[in-house]
Amino acid sequence: MSGKRYYITTPIYYVNARPHIGTALTTLAADVTARYKKMRGLDVTFLTGTDENAPKVAEAAEKAGQAPQQFVDEVAQEFQTIWQGLGIRYDDFIRTTEERHKRVVAEVFRRLQAKGDIYTDDYEGWYCVSCETFWRASEVEEGLCPNPECRRAVSWVTETNHFFRLSAYADRIKDYILANPNFIRPESRRNEVLRFIESGLRDACITRANSGWGVPVPGDESKVVYVWFDALINYLSATGWPDAWNESNPSDLWPPDVQWMGKDILVRFHATLWPAMLMGLGLPLPQVLVGHGWMMIGGEKISKSKGNTVEPVQLARELADRAGCSQELAVDAVRHYMAREMPFAADALFTMESFDTRYNTELANDLGNAVHRSVSMTHRYLDGQVPDAETDPTFVEAAMERVREYEQAMDAFLLDKGVEAAFGLVSQLNRYIDEMAPWSLAKNGDIVALRAVMRTMLESCRVIAALCEPVMPSAAAHIRSQIGHSNPAGWEETQRFDLLKPGTKLPEPRPAFPRLQTKEPAPSPEAPPKPAIPEISIDDFAKVELRVADIVTCEKVEGSDKLLKMTVRVGDEERSLVAGIAEAYDPTDLVGKQIVIVANLKPAKVRGVLSQGMLLAADGEKGPVLLAPSAPTPSGARVH
Ligand code: ME8
Ligand code: MG
Repeated sequence: MSGKRYYITTPIYYVNARPHIGTALTTLAADVTARYKKMRGLDVTFLTGTDENAPKVAEAAEKAGQAPQQFVDEVAQEFQTIWQGLGIRYDDFIRTTEERHKRVVAEVFRRLQAKGDIYTDDYEGWYCVSCETFWRASEVEEGLCPNPECRRAVSWVTETNHFFRLSAYADRIKDYILANPNFIRPESRRNEVLRFIESGLRDACITRANSGWGVPVPGDESKVVYVWFDALINYLSATGWPDAWNESNPSDLWPPDVQWMGKDILVRFHATLWPAMLMGLGLPLPQVLVGHGWMMIGGEKISKSKGNTVEPVQLARELADRAGCSQELAVDAVRHYMAREMPFAADALFTMESFDTRYNTELANDLGNAVHRSVSMTHRYLDGQVPDAETDPTFVEAAMERVREYEQAMDAFLLDKGVEAAFGLVSQLNRYIDEMAPWSLAKNGDIVALRAVMRTMLESCRVIAALCEPVMPSAAAHIRSQIGHSNPAGWEETQRFDLLKPGTKLPEPRPAFPRLQTKEPAPSPEAPPKPAIPEISIDDFAKVELRVADIVTCEKVEGSDKLLKMTVRVGDEERSLVAGIAEAYDPTDLVGKQIVIVANLKPAKVRGVLSQGMLLAADGEKGPVLLAPSAPTPSGARVH
């Protein structure tokens, strides 16, 4: 029997509406992981799919005036079309209305019931159809969903239902999380899960009255299985459990090696209910759960229900039109943007400006120039042929450092850091070309040095192509063709700087990413000079008392998307502070951090909360960036 396959999953998305760059973010993360792991020589299985049995899906079908099955068939098809358009190469697409899945849901239900993990009781409480979540009476105020992203009207439910003994697994799950520090990523989410478990897990209501849509409960057709209990099982259904598994042929897929998802479905579902279900079945738990941050538009989470969506393939199509690049390469540019912005712990903000800027600076300029200069100079100085020369050992050593950074980041699922390392090598190559100035070497007739520099440049382009492969497969192929290298990228491509065949004739240089013309008019030469910022004296500056402070507690200001309130320690004094940084920072990530505050600002009330000071932050590209001492500093230390 062959070894264990590397099993990657995404959430299965509700088919109540079309995919957008939010859902695409997770699917892309899984695709990039899959391509990276394949490059590392692993036998990868990548599963995605659609969650179709939800009441909210039935509601959406009704709104669209369609029968639910016809509606889900159409939307599930659209998901697949968009994923293909985005270059997502999944191995399996599971739909929860498929027989292969429903069968497994019934089997899981029967087994857990037989071992006493499922019992019948009366349920009385709230249900939010938009979140498909049961809420306790104490959690709901004014009949609104307590999820701050939702706040829709919830409905009161009184039904006799089946319950799963989730509470009985609380300690085992907690112990498992404590014993496996990498089980839940990132760290801040892991802490959140632990706090959620400590606050008390109650048994989960896992059925609803049967209204004609969903998986019927085995032996009780008056009920259907609660959509989350049903949906989580998809990861297992896709392996063919239990029929395809037996003692002599254990699954070569199970357990999943990484399960990608957004932070919205980690704590309550994937990190608690799901492990408990698997423990109940006696199955191993997944290796890693990643609950990444959200992609936001204008301070709000992008979501189907809010309708503030950007459709990723359409975004690529428009870019192809505007920039004049091929659709394939425009898709790569969208993939690059999303991977580079990939919110891991914090959230990321989508703006067209940052999309265009990244395209122009990183792809058209940095990457485009590095490759274009390498190829066109080979034509100009070396008759278009790969030179037979040794590469520059100092450069190669520094380049290998970038490759190691890339590897470490990708192994830790930090895709943004992986892309950053790859583009670090691009910048390094551009600097190298500037410093070595092949044009001067050519002019001075220093042919030996010229050939070594050019070989180093071309080999670097090859390594860059390999590092780009998981995120931008078409651009990687384009670069390889530009340097006359047809080998598909394997990991060994990144470990060596002597793989090009000397004498290979290069094709004419052809830029992959033409520059986007920005709309801003060029400043006219007659424009009046900007008014100068008035100067202040050192005494003016001394009036501002800046101090180092430690963040002790931090949470969102209720009812505000922008504000965080925190308690900070300044020396031996504690103060409360309100800051408009909630869109850029997760409060749980800030506790324990040091910041700099204006300590003598007149106190003010912000949204009813007293703010005794103001923290310092720079206007970053994606929002405020907190200023902090570059090394641990005593609390209350003066800043001047
Ligand atoms: O929750 N930013 O499905 P769903 C980042 N069916 N990621 C986003 C996002 C955004 N703005 N919007 C959506 C469900 N996502 C269930 C899952 S799994 C057994 C069942 C991504 O259609 C992110 O991965 O609401 C999030 O967790 C998921 O889509 C939610 O998709
Ligand atoms: Mg959702």
